[in-house]
Amino acid sequence: MPRLEGRIALVTGAGSGIGRAIAVLFAAEGAHVYVTDVDGAAAEAAAGEIVRAGSSAQAVTADVSRGQDVTAMFRVVDAAHGRLDVLVNNAGLNVRGDFRHLSDADWVKIREVNLDGVVRVARDGFALLKASGRGSLINIASIMGHRGLRQLTAYSATKGAVLALTRGLAVEYAPFDIRVNALAPGFVETALTQRALKNPGIQKALLDSTPLRRFGSPEEIAKAALFFASDDASYVTGAELAVDGGMSAGL
Ligand SMILES: NC(=O)c1ccc[n+]([C@@H]2O[C@H](COP(=O)([O-])OP(=O)(O)OC[C@H]3O[C@@H](n4cnc5c(N)ncnc54)[C@H](O)[C@@H]3O)[C@@H](O)[C@H]2O)c1
Repeated sequence: MPRLEGRIALVTGAGSGIGRAIAVLFAAEGAHVYVTDVDGAAAEAAAGEIVRAGSSAQAVTADVSRGQDVTAMFRVVDAAHGRLDVLVNNAGLNVRGDFRHLSDADWVKIREVNLDGVVRVARDGFALLKASGRGSLINIASIMGHRGLRQLTAYSATKGAVLALTRGLAVEYAPFDIRVNALAPGFVETALTQRALKNPGIQKALLDSTPLRRFGSPEEIAKAALFFASDDASYVTGAELAVDGGMSAGL
């Protein structure tokens, strides 16, 4: 029996990388998936791949940093289904650089997507999750919410905030039968990390501090998201799951 049979799911930033892998897996497990992304062509391509594979999906273009886009995105779901069973706050970006040279514009750019966007989606998605009666909100944070690394400080600050937000929301949303959990991936090969992970110096340093001595795949993160989305996690809320090859455990 597919684990998300009949569920309605929405994934932000699902046009590529981890979000796309989550959308593909959720659809394969029986969900109807709203594949949303600021990059409309990427969202269309991902939804097309899912439909061609015989599963159910539809693309919605939405920038999570824009309130009107998020409102319109949830209106589409409301009109068609009136509820949302699984909502994945995945859209994220980074601008690498030394913190002492961080421009106001770059800080705002990172914060507007990684934190403000997550807050907005979690807040505006509440009514649809409540209507589910068994809603699951999943925030994609990062190991960087706990650790420091050169050139990732601003990004880390937003991810640490997402972890705190997850715990608070778990408490606030519990009376409405909405579970709220976070994934904290380690380093996963996607467009976001491609350049850094191909740099031999960075690659060696990161692999040396990863007990499993390899980077993760988007599909491995998606499998952890499936756990939080499914009834297997029916008593799990406010949790954070590290999917990081052991990086957060130690050397
Ligand atoms: N790759 C990693 O190593 C890693 C590790 C930990 C956490 N994460 C987190 O996982 C999430 C996905 O990252 P990824 O590695 O798959 O990156 P990615 O760049 O492959 O995918 C991110 C997607 O988000 C979309 N996006 C960007 N800004 C958006 C916006 N304003 N509104 C809607 N969509 C937007 C992009 O178009 C893209 O499709 C992010 O939150 C990231 O911080 C990634």
